[in-house]
Amino acid sequence: MQTNSTPKPIIELEQQALSELANATQETDLENWRISYLGRKGKVTLVLRSVSTAPEKQRAALGKAANQLKAKLLKSLDERGKAIQNLDVGESKKEAFDIDVTLPGRPVGKGALHPTTQIIRDISKVFDSLGFKWVEGPEVESDSYNFQKLNIPMDHPARDMWNSLWIDNEPNSNPTLLRTHTSPMQIRIMETHTPPIRVIVPGKTYRYEATDATHEWQFAQIEGLAIDRNITFSDLKGTLEVFAKRIFGEKRRARFRCDFFPFVEPGAEMSIDCFKCEGNGCRVCGFSGWIEIMGAGMVHPKVLRGVGYDPEKYSGFAFGMGAERIAMLKHSIEDVRDFYANDLDFIKQLG
Ligand code: FA5
Repeated sequence: MQTNSTPKPIIELEQQALSELANATQETDLENWRISYLGRKGKVTLVLRSVSTAPEKQRAALGKAANQLKAKLLKSLDERGKAIQNLDVGESKKEAFDIDVTLPGRPVGKGALHPTTQIIRDISKVFDSLGFKWVEGPEVESDSYNFQKLNIPMDHPARDMWNSLWIDNEPNSNPTLLRTHTSPMQIRIMETHTPPIRVIVPGKTYRYEATDATHEWQFAQIEGLAIDRNITFSDLKGTLEVFAKRIFGEKRRARFRCDFFPFVEPGAEMSIDCFKCEGNGCRVCGFSGWIEIMGAGMVHPKVLRGVGYDPEKYSGFAFGMGAERIAMLKHSIEDVRDFYANDLDFIKQLG
């Protein structure tokens, strides 16, 4: 306890020591503090040692005050140590004790593949078993690959079949667009490979068009291309019939009709009978009884020549199917717009 007779240096030493001790938050802080004040060469220890050499008149008062300070600091050190332990327990260990380890764990939400991804994988498995390899290509395409090299020159009326989302449509340049179909990959593959070729090309495609139950402005296509000697239309039909049976089962009916695409000759479209009305006609199939799933045909000799192949030597077929339309038929989905409406309940149904 300080009194009026307590020497000033002892008072200052006590204030300094206690204020430093109040800042200690860990065991190591306490030990450093103890060494600094109470250790062999500590500040209080040195004061105690100096008592014997102090002037005789001051000796008793200094000795008493220094001993009292030492006792006080030891007590304060002990109290601060306990306070720090409580601090630890309060903020971390105590919470740990509150956990009931016998409770069952919370279920972890599991992600699922998007229906478009699922159907692309299902379809690619079928074609993989028929010897077709998976290839991918750019979504931003040049006019040249999306149209011109596919026998669709500038100003050709067939361009109206694919309303385009242009990225850069400057005259006198090679304009760029979001690819309207996966067919440009036919050219890219033929330009860089020699036959025999058997590939499928799944990927996103984009069109500037009004949406309805079977039309989206962004959807996925799967292109198919087979080039070799002596490939005929029967190979095309046989391949697509195997595909239809494996994906839709034996019960579904498939229909081939003539169609026009500038890059094939002859051209065809393949449709499957509507899952909703069984072919009688309803809103889903546009009251036709059929849902068109792909365009197809024999690769046009002009296209073959364009990539440097001799049409007398090589022939081949190509097809381009809409992935979402196939998922619609397989899972009885009535509106293609559901695929990209960000409706998790819809996605989970098929996950
Ligand atoms: C084409 O895109 C051609 N490139 C297909 C082709 C490839 C023909 C190779 C010949 C040889 P089409 O525009 O018809 O053709 O589209 C092909 C398929 O994509 C359609 O049968 C349909 O299943 C799907 N599709 C077309 N437009 C949409 C759309 N707006 N929304 C969803 N699916 C669509």
